[in-house]
Amino acid sequence: MKPDVRQDQDARPLTRGDMASGLRLYPGYLDRARQVELLAALREALAAAPLFTPRMPTSGRPFTVRMSNCGPLGWVSDAGGYRYAPTHPKTGRPWPPIPALLRAAWQELGRYPHPPQACLINFYGPAAKMGLHQDRDEDDFDAPVFSLSLGDSCLFRIGGRSRGDPTRSFRLHSGDALVLGGGARLAFHGVDRILPGTSTLLAEGGRFNLTLRRVTCPGAAAALPPDRENVGLSA
Ligand code: SIN
Ligand code: MN
Repeated sequence: MKPDVRQDQDARPLTRGDMASGLRLYPGYLDRARQVELLAALREALAAAPLFTPRMPTSGRPFTVRMSNCGPLGWVSDAGGYRYAPTHPKTGRPWPPIPALLRAAWQELGRYPHPPQACLINFYGPAAKMGLHQDRDEDDFDAPVFSLSLGDSCLFRIGGRSRGDPTRSFRLHSGDALVLGGGARLAFHGVDRILPGTSTLLAEGGRFNLTLRRVTCPGAAAALPPDRENVGLSA
């Protein structure tokens, strides 16, 4: 099964500098039929691993975004800190597998030869947002951060590798794919706001963002039992 994708040369370079820095946006990467297909796979994953409300490690404040994961590892945040864990914090069960369509998308656009190990599922209600942050809980920054949006559009903000660098924003719509690789791998980014009513994909409204990441360096001492190291993709 191959998703309906645009080839790399169709990625919209946001500016010439972005191309050099490894930030790639694929507007409409998934057509509506593929979005529906991915949503069905996502609902199945969420039935096994329900959304939960993470908390900031130090303040204990709840995130406005609800989360879950699929894949061998899942990103969690609570009093124990930000980290990757092999099981769901509420159910105690392993996360469900990463849907095939997402693994194929990573292979197609990731420009990275090893499979993703974690897929963070973020759900944004109409008032949810995410502050500027870097994705840096992974051992391997050679692998990109790859994300797909489903549902309502959002205003996405991105800056540079230092918190004080200038930022700018653009809209991410349902079906768009975004790659933060190369020099953009450690760019600060966040979601300023959701634009309610901009998509009919989710009956309940809101936005899902699915973020695929490689967590461990390939060949490094296994953080996972061998049978769960490369679940789902040969590489
Ligand atoms: C994230 O950085 O975890 C999510 C970004 C997004 O929702 O687009
Ligand atoms: Mn992030």
